[in-house]
Parts: sequence; C-alpha cells; structure tokens
Amino acid sequence: MASSSHIDLSGPTYCVLTGASQGIGRALAVEVSKLLGPKSLMLLLARNKTELAKTAELCTSSNVKVLYESIDLSRSTNSQMKDALSKSLEGWNIKDFATNVIFHNVGSLGNLSVETSKMGDVDELREYYDLNVFKVISLNTQFLKIFEEVEERVVIVNITSLCAIKPMGGMAYYCSGKAAREMYFKVLAEEKKHIRVLNYSPGPVETAMIDFVLAEAVNDNLKDVFTSFKNQGTLLKPEATAKKCMKVLLAGRFTPGEHVDYFDDE
Ligand SMILES: NC(=O)c1ccc[n+]([C@@H]2O[C@H](COP(=O)([O-])OP(=O)(O)OC[C@H]3O[C@@H](n4cnc5c(N)ncnc54)[C@H](OP(=O)(O)O)[C@@H]3O)[C@@H](O)[C@H]2O)c1
Repeated sequence: MASSSHIDLSGPTYCVLTGASQGIGRALAVEVSKLLGPKSLMLLLARNKTELAKTAELCTSSNVKVLYESIDLSRSTNSQMKDALSKSLEGWNIKDFATNVIFHNVGSLGNLSVETSKMGDVDELREYYDLNVFKVISLNTQFLKIFEEVEERVVIVNITSLCAIKPMGGMAYYCSGKAAREMYFKVLAEEKKHIRVLNYSPGPVETAMIDFVLAEAVNDNLKDVFTSFKNQGTLLKPEATAKKCMKVLLAGRFTPGEHVDYFDDE
C-alpha cells in the first residue's frame, strides 16, 4: 500500500483500542465502530469493566461484534497481552479480516507536582514509562506477531500529543514519554513501509486528563494555560477529535509515522 492511499475499513476489520473506558478512547471506539464493515470485531481494553461495557453499548453498528476486557496495561506481561488478543480472536480466522487496526490511546499524565529539576524518583518514573511507553511497545509487538503473515493489512494509530514535539513546562513525565512513544512508532514505520502508521495528536480535549492537570499541576504557566482553555471554552469535545482522527486515517494522506495534529488543516 502506498503511504498516500486511502485506508479502507469497510471490509471485515479487527480493531483493538486501548484506554476505551472514557474520554477520547470512548469517542474513538464509537466513531470507528460506525465505519467498520460486516463481520468486524472490536476489542476494547482498559481497567474499568463497567465503563468499558458502557463504551461497548455505545457502539451500536450491527456490522461489529464488540468485546471488552479489563486489563491493567501497566502491569500486563507479554503473555497476558497475547492471551487477551488471542482470546478475542477465538472462532475467527485472522486471514478473513481485510484490515487489522490498533489504536494505542491509553495514556496518563505522570507526576505534575514535581519540578523537572527535582525529578528523583526513578521507580515512579519507571512506572510511568511502563504504562505509557514500554507496555505500549509490548502490546504492539504482540499485535504484530499475531498478524505477521498479513502484515500489509495492519494499521497502527498512536494517540500522541503536541507535547511529544513541543516542551511544556511542568510536564516532563508526559512530554518525554510521549516523545519516546511517538519516536518508537516513527522508527517502526521507517522499517515497515507496508504497515500504515499514524501518530495522531488530538488537540486539547475535555476529558478527565484536563481536570487532573488543574488539580495537580504545580507549574503556574501550565495551570494558567489549562485554566484559560477551560474558561474560554476552547477545549475540544472527544467526539470532534475522534471524528477528525477517522477523517485523517481514512484519507490516508500521511507519510509513515507522521505526526498529524487536529489543527493541521482546521
Ligand atoms: N485530553 C487531552 O487534552 C489530550 C491531549 C493530547 C493527547 N491526549 C492523549 O489522548 C489519550 C487519551 O486521553 P484522555 O484525555 O481520553 O484521558 P483519560 O480520560 O484519562 O483516559 C485514559 C484512558 O486510559 C486508561 N488507562 C489508564 N491507566 C490504565 C492502565 N493502567 N491500564 C489500562 N488502561 C489504563 C483509562 O481507563 P481505566 O482507568 O479504566 O483503566 C482511560 O480509558 C492519551 O494518550 C492522552 O495522552 C489527550
């Protein structure tokens, strides 16, 4: 597939989406489910089973069977990840899927109450990188292993952030984690030109993450920026950015691993 060609999700599609219990992940699940063709299968992952069930209920297309699994992605081993994927595929033949797509949407902000010059807790930092970088890579590796024989049908969407490419004071955990994660997907895209890889940056979106910044940040500028986003009503709705992500994805006009932002052509 050339990197500029459309991506077709209208055939039978297998879709995995992490962080699907709320926020952007929930909206992505709903939007992608509307696009998938008959005999499609979705697997939603996060810890909160009740909220995952709500997301699954919102995916109403009769084309798609929606499964969900409660999993702590910060602690899962390779084999637990492989099992979660394999279990969802029981009774399905992977060669019957025209497209296999994974959305790496899971994410957290890290410790916003420590100044960057005073970051000394390596265990905490390691825990942060486990969820946001290392385990994202593990899950992606397990996904690629399963679809190794039909790799040209694989599509990967990493939900990244402006913070991956632009420093934001007070967010060293988040910015460095997002940068590392995005670069991993860029390198993968460089090596595997036949796999479509998109780094989609959703813009500032009204989710629990924003409330966390307002509650936890010690950096005054960071607090001011997010307070003004909130007060001026400039935060995007999860649905709006999820729709845009699908538009970018389907159009396929991105180079391998390109960082595409919500605002790029707004
Ligand atoms: N909101 C923004 O303005 C914004 C801007 C740029 C980029 N992003 C990115 O967009 C993505 C989604 O963000 P959001 O704002 O929707 O955040 P959110 O509302 O906090 O959602 C985070 C999701 O990740 C899941 N999660 C967290 N820890 C997990 C764990 N240990 N194991 C499994 N799942 C876990 C949560 O589910 P459970 O708690 O149920 O596990 C939840 O579904 C993130 O990658 C974020 O960095 C957000």
